[in-house]
Amino acid sequence: MAANRDSILEALERVIDPELRKPVTELDMVRDVRIDGGDVGITIALTVVGCPLRSSFQDQVQRHVGPLPGVESVSLDFDVMSPDERQALTRKLRGGLTERTKGISLDASTRVVAVCSGKGGVGKSTLTVNLAAAFSDLGLRTGVLDADVYGHSIPHLLGIHRQPVLVDRMIVPPVRRDLKLMSIGFFLEDNAPVMWRGPMLHKALEQFLSDVHWGELDILVVDMPPGTGDVAISLGQLLPRAEVILVTTPQPLAQEVAIRAARMAQKTNTRLIGVIENMTSAVFGSGGGETLASELGVPLLGTVPLDARLRLSGDAGEPVVWADPDSDAAVAIAELADAVVATHRERGVGIVKSLPLVS
Ligand SMILES: Nc1ncnc2c1ncn2[C@@H]1O[C@H](COP(=O)(O)OP(=O)(O)OP(=O)(O)O)[C@@H](O)[C@H]1O
Ligand SMILES: [Mg+2]
Repeated sequence: MAANRDSILEALERVIDPELRKPVTELDMVRDVRIDGGDVGITIALTVVGCPLRSSFQDQVQRHVGPLPGVESVSLDFDVMSPDERQALTRKLRGGLTERTKGISLDASTRVVAVCSGKGGVGKSTLTVNLAAAFSDLGLRTGVLDADVYGHSIPHLLGIHRQPVLVDRMIVPPVRRDLKLMSIGFFLEDNAPVMWRGPMLHKALEQFLSDVHWGELDILVVDMPPGTGDVAISLGQLLPRAEVILVTTPQPLAQEVAIRAARMAQKTNTRLIGVIENMTSAVFGSGGGETLASELGVPLLGTVPLDARLRLSGDAGEPVVWADPDSDAAVAIAELADAVVATHRERGVGIVKSLPLVS
């Protein structure tokens, strides 16, 4: 019995492009299906030469086509899309839009949560990747945006060193497990900090954000640059309807930070949803988070203990939530993720009314 073309094409509907998250059949990537008795040859057209995802396609094609009745062997070849095909694909993915959309290319239902702080080094990046991993574990389709134009440490923390794939003018985020990652750092040579200032930075960020193809996301977690200054304000304006989480250390420095954070929320029309106290310990103490939260009239979403595993797993490119899910820090972060999800459910409750706004 010879292999059947229709059943092969049907099986190929289950072969998903790992980055574009759609079946190869729907993406018009299947070039050719050759049947010679029990021997099946398939050609898939990749978006770019040297696409790093070949082995994923190999595995999936073997898994779905291999067991079909009449199939004895499967061989997979790759071809590359022509510029016209890439353009057609881009149009398709953008839902027929040919014009560049202004602002970030996200669906209106995607939640955007920006992780901010009054000062540097409080653990924003560490919490961003771990919260993202925890959201993903909850079954949310999660993206991580590294918007720290000075530091961009997220690719390192997630162990993603691949450049994003450029399809036509669309930037496709690389993935780690189910997380999609985009970093301004991918586009900078030698990790040099961005030297643009003011309007130029705003323009560059706007183009960068609008060209990223996020696909369908439930939540996007954004690692913000430290401080609540101009860059943060500019980013806040580019991230429509972002909600802000403020990270602080246990030492109470609340008042000054609260005023600056409130100013930022007001200028960017974002909503502060709560405070996280990080590095709670016998050495640093605790209480700074509670003080800041009450100063701002928002909830303390949780505290994360000082734990060397957070640093070590970060250095190893694996969030502690995945590397050591039973550790105190991982458990605390999983609870935080639940708390953040709950703020959405209770929308309307806990909205900042009593911000110490400055004029
Ligand atoms: N709870 C914690 N326990 C132990 N180490 C931590 C904890 N949180 C963060 N760290 C470590 O503290 C350092 C600073 O953290 P991180 O880079 O996440 O801060 P940041 O706020 O993003 O800094 P920056 O403002 O420079 O971007 C890192 O070495 C990180 O591993
Ligand atoms: Mg950082």
